[in-house]
Amino acid sequence: MTQSAPATPLVSSGSQDWQVLANRYRSVRAYTEQICAPLEAEDHVIQPHPDVSPPKWHLGHTTWFFESFLLERFAPDYRAFHPRFAFLFNSYYESVGERVERPRRGMLSRPTLDVVLDYRHAVDAAMHKTFAAIESASPEARAEFQQLVEIGLHHEQQHQELLFTDLKNILFQNPLLPAYRSDSAANLSAESSPPRWLDVPGGLYTIGVDANDPAFAYDNESPEHQVYLNPYAIADRPVNCGEFLEFIRDDGYFDFRHWLSDGWSRVCSEGWRAPLYWLPRDVEETGRRQISDKDADLVMYTLGGVREIDPAEPVCHISYYEAAAFASWAGKRLPTEAEWEVAVRQLQIQPTNQSNVAGLAEHGVPFPGRYHPAPANAKNDSRTAAEAPGSNNARANGADAQAQQIFGDVWEWTGSAYLAYPGYRSLDGALGEYNGKFMSDQMVLRGGSCVTPAGHIRAGYRNFFQPFQRWQFSGLRLAEDAAGRNDQT
Ligand SMILES: [Fe+2]
Repeated sequence: MTQSAPATPLVSSGSQDWQVLANRYRSVRAYTEQICAPLEAEDHVIQPHPDVSPPKWHLGHTTWFFESFLLERFAPDYRAFHPRFAFLFNSYYESVGERVERPRRGMLSRPTLDVVLDYRHAVDAAMHKTFAAIESASPEARAEFQQLVEIGLHHEQQHQELLFTDLKNILFQNPLLPAYRSDSAANLSAESSPPRWLDVPGGLYTIGVDANDPAFAYDNESPEHQVYLNPYAIADRPVNCGEFLEFIRDDGYFDFRHWLSDGWSRVCSEGWRAPLYWLPRDVEETGRRQISDKDADLVMYTLGGVREIDPAEPVCHISYYEAAAFASWAGKRLPTEAEWEVAVRQLQIQPTNQSNVAGLAEHGVPFPGRYHPAPANAKNDSRTAAEAPGSNNARANGADAQAQQIFGDVWEWTGSAYLAYPGYRSLDGALGEYNGKFMSDQMVLRGGSCVTPAGHIRAGYRNFFQPFQRWQFSGLRLAEDAAGRNDQT
């Protein structure tokens, strides 16, 4: 049995209409600055951890991308805004040149935020002049320009998500635990019911993206290829906070039997007792952050400030190690990325603008963003029922169970190492460094989170992080082999 369906992004790509592409450029670039608007200038400079970049650096780096890969190639009259900015804002492109060491991005008190914003606007003006001029270029140059703009916009959307995760970590460092936006991340009323299980028959399936598919995809999503899967079942929703609290209260963080060896080392060396951002209830009175063995009463830090842990919302900010330990404790396992993708495509789920994702206002949906996972069946969400988080569902073929929250809320750790698909080829040139060189020591996450931009979600998307990282909105969905399945769980 071979089944596949094309990934469909929210915003159509591949249009030859330069005005449409220019408008998308304007919209995506503006949204980056909207994300930063609630921040103070001081918030833009802090780097609490090598993995977390200061917002000012994100603003400059995404601009450098267009300057370096588009304007230097297609705008012969363009002169670099500043001769040393390529050194400041190159991330990891060895073929482009030397750069500020990653852990030292927080040392950049200069250029000031105002100068970086001037840099953005100068590059934007030059890009719009290039959009106007490109129509008279050769067909080959136009095609290359369009491809690079698409990559640049998707690159910027990746950094929009990183802006949210990084500014959350930055604000979390402050003893005052300030909110990014006090009107976000409110608790929603919802009842939690046990997960239901969607059965997927064994067989030969097709996953990955056909290189000729006009919809945008990164090189690491191709080529389309076949995989054989044994019959399996996958949960209809992600693991929620109530279930994770059971794991904590059952001493899950103290029982080495559930943990991979590297994960157990992290538990011991870093004192993990709960997901990142979970805190003792008295944190705002005492400043105490470390959860002791006696702490049964916890709260969480969100982009809306400190608030109650909602048992019905998906657990997030957990590492791969914690996801795997929870699955072991629950007597289940993580799905492979092929199992995740096949379950999504067989159920004919397509991304819609009805998810709990970021940036929907850009697409005309009146939803300011929660910037936090939402319960599957929230009752008092500010959106209409059709737009509520749990509406991003798909009914299983011939069954009464529905898969919920596939896109939005949390990225889901899979049990798959991030490796090349059979026949993978990276892009030619400097952008060949974009994905392929990271294919070691990382695990794949699928889906998309509550801070993933709406136009940046698709079924074939392969996100990847190192297994100990947990500052992303990362959670899990359980799976199990069909043989020996226990319907009581
Ligand atoms: Fe980047």
